Parts: sequence; C-alpha cells; structure tokens
Amino acid sequence: MDYKKIANTILLQYSLPIYGRHGVSHWARVMAGGLKLAEKTGADQTIVRLFALFHDSRRENEKMDHGHGARGAEFLESLRDDLIQISDRQFNLLHYACVYHTDGMTDADISVQTCWDADRLDLGRIGVRPDPKFLCTDAAKDEKMIDWSVARSKIRFSPSLIQTEWGIPPQNN
Ligand SMILES: [Fe+2]
Ligand SMILES: [Fe+2]
Repeated sequence: MDYKKIANTILLQYSLPIYGRHGVSHWARVMAGGLKLAEKTGADQTIVRLFALFHDSRRENEKMDHGHGARGAEFLESLRDDLIQISDRQFNLLHYACVYHTDGMTDADISVQTCWDADRLDLGRIGVRPDPKFLCTDAAKDEKMIDWSVARSKIRFSPSLIQTEWGIPPQNN
C-alpha cells in the first residue's frame, strides 16, 4: 500500500491545522506507539498504521467532536479498493476501531484494543497522564510504556515518520 498517497489524500480534505492538536504529529505518535505495543500484543500492524491515519482524519474541531470516528471510518470506506487494499476482516476491525475510539470501551479484538491504547496513551498532549484503568492491554498499562508516551506527547513530539513514511513536509516549511 502507498502510505504517502494515502496520507496526502487524507490531508487534502483535512479541515484543521495539519500540525494542530489532532493533526499529523498526533497521528504519527499514535502509529509509533501502536507499533511499539504491537510487538507485545501481536496486533495487526496494517490496522495500526491505518487507524493512526484515519481515526481523527475527519475531525471538524479540536474539542468534543461527536461522530468524528464514524466520519473517519466512512472516509476509509470510500477509499477502499482504490487506495486501501485490506481483507474484509481487517476492514471490519479497522472500521470498528475508528467508529468507537472515543467511547471509552476496553473490550475488543486485540488489534482494536492496541489502536485504542495507542490513541489514549497520547493524552499527555493535553496534560493528562493516561490512567491504566482506561487502557485495554497489559502492554499499554506498563508504567514504562506510559512514561515513554507521556514524555513524547507532552512536548507534542513530531516523529520523523511524518516525512519519511507519509511524505508530509515538516512544520515551518
Ligand atoms: Fe479522535
Ligand atoms: Fe486521536
């Protein structure tokens, strides 16, 4: 799959600042954190990569944006077969992960749980240390993983994968 093309297609319609609170730096931290968790949980890495890109792709504001997960899932569906080549099982899990990512659930397929944890572990960006009771997997509840995530999120760290894997120019360029 061409992740640069997918990322740029998403950005063409993204209505908020690209490097804003729910923009590409958050997406990239979710992806890096999700892949780190996947080493322990065995989550499907393709689902983690696509969740990172799509789950907040259709936000319309930086606050409580009801329905943005469902809109992201709908957008994902619109690009299926053309840009997104995944199995029906992968699609169904990814769709579910996007739709329900803000509902606070913890029980789901391990790939879905890993996506939700990766998103919740980035709460340090708004000054909140993730509480293990709201996380799904043992890998995410690990204090070392929480420390690693908070250190990155509180400074709104921008992983270089934004440029190397998604082909998106850095901020201030
Ligand atoms: Fe979200
Ligand atoms: Fe998010």
